[in-house]
Amino acid sequence: MNVSDLRTPFAMLDLTRVRANIRAMAERAAAAGVRLRPHAKTHKSAVIAKWQIEAGAVGVCCAKLGEAEVLAAAGIGDIRLPYPVNPSNADRVLALLPQTKLSIIVDDIDVAKGWSDAMTRAGQKLDVLVKVDVGFHRCGINPSAVDAPDRVAFVASLPGLNFRGLLSHAGQAYHAASEMELEHMALREAEMMSDLATRASLAGAKIEEISVGSTPTARFIGRQVDHIRRPELQLGHAGAEAPAYAKSFAPTEMRPGNYVFLDRTQVALGAATLDTCAMFIEATVVSRPAPDRVILDAGAKTLALDGARGFQAMPGHGLVIHADGTPDPTLVIERLSEEHATVRATAPTRLRIGDRVRILPNHACVVTNLMDELVLAENGVATGAIKVDARGRIR
Ligand SMILES: Cc1ncc(COP(=O)(O)O)c(C=O)c1O
Repeated sequence: MNVSDLRTPFAMLDLTRVRANIRAMAERAAAAGVRLRPHAKTHKSAVIAKWQIEAGAVGVCCAKLGEAEVLAAAGIGDIRLPYPVNPSNADRVLALLPQTKLSIIVDDIDVAKGWSDAMTRAGQKLDVLVKVDVGFHRCGINPSAVDAPDRVAFVASLPGLNFRGLLSHAGQAYHAASEMELEHMALREAEMMSDLATRASLAGAKIEEISVGSTPTARFIGRQVDHIRRPELQLGHAGAEAPAYAKSFAPTEMRPGNYVFLDRTQVALGAATLDTCAMFIEATVVSRPAPDRVILDAGAKTLALDGARGFQAMPGHGLVIHADGTPDPTLVIERLSEEHATVRATAPTRLRIGDRVRILPNHACVVTNLMDELVLAENGVATGAIKVDARGRIR
C-alpha cells in the first residue's frame, strides 16, 4: 500500500534513513574507540533496539524502569537507566536483574546508601555510575565541589553496589548558539569528567567507565576522546607531555538517543540535514477558512507542543513539506490545538482541503510517545509498522 493511501495523521519512518542513522552512529563510535549505548526513549521499541544492537551497540538506555521492563521482557540484555531512580523501586530492579544486565545512576549519598542496603538485604549487587553535572544543571553532582571525589569514592565503597564509573549528559548543548559553542560544551564535558575521574581515583574509586552523550554533541566524540588522550593535538598546546594520569579518563561510552530519527531541532543544531531526518507526520488539510490560513489534522496530540531549538530562532511547531518533497518555510505552524494545526500562509499557497503534507516534527522523541505505532515507509510504499512497545511507560 502506498503511504498516500493511509488515513492521516500518522507518524512515518523512512526505513532507509533509520538504518543509515543507526549505521552512521555505530561507525562514529567505533572510529572514536568508544562503546555505543543508544537511549531508547526516542523509539521505545524492541525492534529498533535490536537493530541498534545488531549494528554494534552494547545495549541501550531507558529513562524509566517501565521502559526497561518492556525492553528486558523483549530480550534486550543490557540496559542502563541514566535517571535518578529511587530505592523504593528496589523490588522492580530485583525482578529485572535475572532478565537483563541492569545499571543505574546515583547523584545523592542517601539514595546510594538506600540502593546498597536494598541490594545487600537481597544478597545482590547493582551496577551503578555516579551522575555528574557538566553544565545542564539538572541532575548530577557538582564536579568542581571540593568533596566531589569523596562522594564518588563513598559510592564506590558501598557493599551492595558494583561501582562502574561516571556518567554525564550535556543537555545544555540544546541551548548552544553556534557550532563553536557546541563543540566547546562537548570538550568541556570530556575535561570535567576526566578531571573528576582523576581526583576520584586518587580518593580510592576505581573508574572503569566514562559515559557521555547526547545527539548534538555526538559528532564531537572523536574530538572528546582526543582532547583527553592526546592533549598535544590541542590548538595552542605548548608541547609539554601531559602526565599519564591526565590521559586515562577519556570517554568510554556514548549515549545519543534522538539520532535514530532526528528532527527539526537537530537540523537547527547542525546534527542533521533534511535528508537524514527519518520521522515525519503525514497530515491532511481539513479546512481553508481564509486565504492565509490552512488547518491540518495534526494537533498537539500528534506533533507534541515542544518548540524547536537551534542556532537560529525556529518559529512554529514543525516544518511543512509538500507532497512532492519540497520544504515550505512560508507555511508556519503557528498554533496547535489538540487535533488541529493552524498554519499561517505567509505567501500565497495552492493548498486545498484534502491535500496531503508531511511535517518534520520539532522533537521526535515526544512524538513517539504519542503513537501506538510508527508506519515504515520505503520509497513512498508503506512496508509495515513498528509497535511503540514502551509507549506511556513513564513510571
Ligand atoms: C541522561 C541522558 N542520556 C542520554 C540522552 C540522549 O540524548 P539525546 O536526546 O540528545 O540523543 C538523554 C536525553 O534526554 C539523557 O537524558
